[in-house]
Amino acid sequence: MDKPSQLMPDIWLLPSYFPIPGAGFLAVNAFLISSEEPVLVDTGMGMEREDFLQALESVMDLEDLKWVWLTHDDADHTGNLQTILERAPNARLVANSLAVLRMSSAWPVPMDRVHWLNSGDRIRLGSRDLAAIRPPLFDNPATIGIYDVSSQAFFAADFFGAIIPSQSKRAEDVPEEDLARGMISWASTDNPWVHMVGEGEFAGELEKIRQLSPEWILSGHLPPAQGKTDRFLEVLAQVPSSPPVCPPDQAALEQILAQMKGRG
Ligand SMILES: [Fe+2]
Ligand SMILES: [Fe+2]
Repeated sequence: MDKPSQLMPDIWLLPSYFPIPGAGFLAVNAFLISSEEPVLVDTGMGMEREDFLQALESVMDLEDLKWVWLTHDDADHTGNLQTILERAPNARLVANSLAVLRMSSAWPVPMDRVHWLNSGDRIRLGSRDLAAIRPPLFDNPATIGIYDVSSQAFFAADFFGAIIPSQSKRAEDVPEEDLARGMISWASTDNPWVHMVGEGEFAGELEKIRQLSPEWILSGHLPPAQGKTDRFLEVLAQVPSSPPVCPPDQAALEQILAQMKGRG
């Protein structure tokens, strides 16, 4: 877990990286909108619980946290949710109903502190207008990204993610070719269904994001990017016709284990 960094006067990045053996690194980001009613977007990885809480508490008092917006209930986004709701007594959870119901099978989600949203809904949290938008690619049906009208930032859940060769602070720091390759392979790996979708239909979904025209792309799995929306959408348009990525198999695992043993 890296130190939080301030992207804009009222938006903080809570950054971490997950190493992908043999492939590089995947950013695992959470964000804080530190407005009148502060909103935490996703909750990091459970294996970094103490570090995550320390990072969050270094930029705000948990007593003041009003909202936790969960983009979807995958483990790399829910890692510290239960603890945060316990330690932030004034916070309510914004999430899709399916995400909440599924999590309820694992731990007692306080239903009286939950606000259900669907893609297409808008919500005003303090002075902030936030729109729930399901991105064109999603690995979980409960996914709701956020478009924040005042910062023109799109919190895109897993969309726009990329496996990149080294840990970078900004997407601009990653060589363009590496970024395009990493974005296409992540999109294919995380959303294998995209190869069953017609290019035309997919292009129509990408067009909706192009028209939204976010200035900032704040993905759960990419270093922050500014002014890159059109370029990234051009890259992602290639995904349906790209060769499907086959995740590593047992032979690959044995090779990775042998390499690790060799290093140890
Ligand atoms: Fe996911
Ligand atoms: Fe994710």
